[in-house]
Amino acid sequence: MNKGAKAGERRALPGEKAKELLSLRNEYVPKGVFQIGPLFISRGKGAMVEDVDGNEYIDFAAGISVLNVGHCNDRVVSAIKEQADKHLHTCFHVLMYESYIKLARKLCEITPGNFPKQALLVNSGAEAVENGIKVARRYSSKCGVIVFENAFHGRTALTMGLTSQVKYYKFGFGPFDPFIQRVPYAYCYRCPHKLTYPDCGIHCLQRIEDSFVNYMPSEEIAAILIEPILGEGGYVIPPAEFLKGLRKICEEHNILFIADEVQSGMGRTGKMWAIEHFNVVPDILLSAKSLGGGLVLSATIGKKDIMDSVNVGGIGGTYGGNPLSCVAALKAIETIEKDKLLDRATNLGKIAKDRLEGMKEKYNIIGDVRGLGCAIGVELVKDRKTKEPAAAGTRAILKKCHEYGLIIMSCGPLHNVLRLMFPLVVKEEDMERGLDIMEDAIREVNRTI
Ligand SMILES: Cc1ncc(COP(=O)(O)O)c(C=O)c1O
Repeated sequence: MNKGAKAGERRALPGEKAKELLSLRNEYVPKGVFQIGPLFISRGKGAMVEDVDGNEYIDFAAGISVLNVGHCNDRVVSAIKEQADKHLHTCFHVLMYESYIKLARKLCEITPGNFPKQALLVNSGAEAVENGIKVARRYSSKCGVIVFENAFHGRTALTMGLTSQVKYYKFGFGPFDPFIQRVPYAYCYRCPHKLTYPDCGIHCLQRIEDSFVNYMPSEEIAAILIEPILGEGGYVIPPAEFLKGLRKICEEHNILFIADEVQSGMGRTGKMWAIEHFNVVPDILLSAKSLGGGLVLSATIGKKDIMDSVNVGGIGGTYGGNPLSCVAALKAIETIEKDKLLDRATNLGKIAKDRLEGMKEKYNIIGDVRGLGCAIGVELVKDRKTKEPAAAGTRAILKKCHEYGLIIMSCGPLHNVLRLMFPLVVKEEDMERGLDIMEDAIREVNRTI
């Protein structure tokens, strides 16, 4: 029973206990580790969270799309407890265990493509991406990688180079891998070419062909790495022709297609993998975040001949595929399948999007509502015509939401997109309550623009 404010009621942030922790955090943890607000959890269940001061929240952030099956999912927690009594860590290079193999097999079965596959289990999203690139380079004996504007692929040395957003994530950390070639993403609301879909003829694809002439010949490109929907880059949903066209370019030029499903996968969009909405089959698919059901786990899954092209010892790591994470992941997948969370994501996403479209009619600050399933972005602007981003307005809305018990974060290169990624197990009435809090905050800030 929480002793503080209920979701929907105002609470002072930070609370007393949070204040103490915040001061210790500021003393001992570098500021470079960002936070969305002064929020400290004490417990979570499903889509509900209680903070250290006993205040209740509805969680629309889900640990940045890590908790698709919810906080402390019962199946996941029991599997972890059972495993914890058996063995915690052996290192798969030293002592193998069944759960790693079962999970690798399951991932090969549930990813797109009717061809033999293999899966490597590692720890973070960035590590899955790194391994995707390593494997693609080894298999193809080529170095070049095409990536996209506004993409996010991680914070390690290689993945920072792959990530866009230079000021926020990369400034002062170079040099970066020189074989990375960046091209525009099909972000139609802010078309990089100032064209309009569909009359543009998907000009973004032409830019890739042009890059083979101007920057790096296709013969040197190992892979195109792409998020099927942009995550950190603003929850942008590209036209299907864009992803299909990329796949075609890959085939024509003997380039591997790597889908980064770290944020978009594991049911978030109403299909197990976002790429399935576009009927495109990648050569390599990267998963992390919700894969571990809340534990640390990521995977690089690909065509068997590609994955198996690496020498013994070339890939892996001490902690990769930790047994606790493997059993948790198997249960997370089982939960998505048995509890029909893909249908649920589609239905909840539709209800939420309809409500947000309704808000767009009422509040000029909302420039665009877009989404697939429960991956929904609301882009805020000062002026619908000029599309001047409302970054300060976005910050004000987030703060207000937090104060009234809704955990929500933003995204986008212009810091003006509200990002909705609640657990797929959220009760419909809690989602509606969360949307009420959001609407109150939007209404208030809308008056000031
Ligand atoms: C699409 C995508 N790729 C890779 C990453 C990096 O994952 P991690 O933070 O686990 O390294 C993220 C993280 O947000 C992501 O959204």
